[in-house]
Amino acid sequence: MSQDEAVERLAERLRGASRVTVVTGAGVSAASGIPTFRGSGGLWRNHRPEDLATAAAFARDPRLVWEWYAWRRGLVAAAQPNRAHEVLALWSRRFPRFRLITQNVDGLHERAGTSGVIRFHGSLWEVSCWGACGRMPARWRDERTFDRLPPRCDACGGWLRPGVVWFGEPIDPEALEASGEALDCEICLAVGTSAVVYPAAGLVTAAGARGAFTAEINPEATPASAAVDLAIAGPAEDVLDRVDRRL
Ligand code: APR
Repeated sequence: MSQDEAVERLAERLRGASRVTVVTGAGVSAASGIPTFRGSGGLWRNHRPEDLATAAAFARDPRLVWEWYAWRRGLVAAAQPNRAHEVLALWSRRFPRFRLITQNVDGLHERAGTSGVIRFHGSLWEVSCWGACGRMPARWRDERTFDRLPPRCDACGGWLRPGVVWFGEPIDPEALEASGEALDCEICLAVGTSAVVYPAAGLVTAAGARGAFTAEINPEATPASAAVDLAIAGPAEDVLDRVDRRL
């Protein structure tokens, strides 16, 4: 099937749909200049996740971990949502029951105007008290450029930690519940994810098991490519734009 035929096939399915769920990963932000994790030039090519994205790494060297998150916050603050984010924001208003589950912590979906984003792996722009002192909310938004790393909790003086889900940590129960509800859909589309990190990697096939038509958009094949009904090989900012033009 040519890419054009695949684009038309997805557009055809979307034209008559109302319950549409999209699962996104780092590939959606690639065109905004945000490196992915595992692609070429990806973050995990130059850093070891166990040195930067685990609670043990933070306990060992909170300053190193914060230097890395502060760098990423700076990168994202200077970036702009791209066409992929824009199309999904349009779809969030087009489809009566649209759900977007993102693994991305950059907040670019929200900046593009998508509401009700399910942040499966948390947010770069949120923090929480490492000591869980209980005198602050479980996590809260803090977009400041910290002049001291690690930043401190105003209530107990302990360290603040980034509001992201690290390897080995559970997904927020609210995000899990909202994602479970979102999988009852007519169409589930996975965009820009390598489909190797669970439980997020199992979402599109779980929707398929509930009867949804499933599709994937990614320039490269992933472990999910053979499991979905339609795999479209191409960059999200281009393929989503072309699908949208046919709606
Ligand atoms: N459009 C669509 N997909 C793209 C594009 C693009 N322009 N550029 C790259 N990709 C694809 C790559 O082919 C790759 O399959 O995006 C995928 C990015 O994969 P990862 O870097 O593994 O990112 P992701 O799947 O989001 O990672 C999952 O792992 O490191 C943790 O918590 C982190 O949320 C992250 C999770």
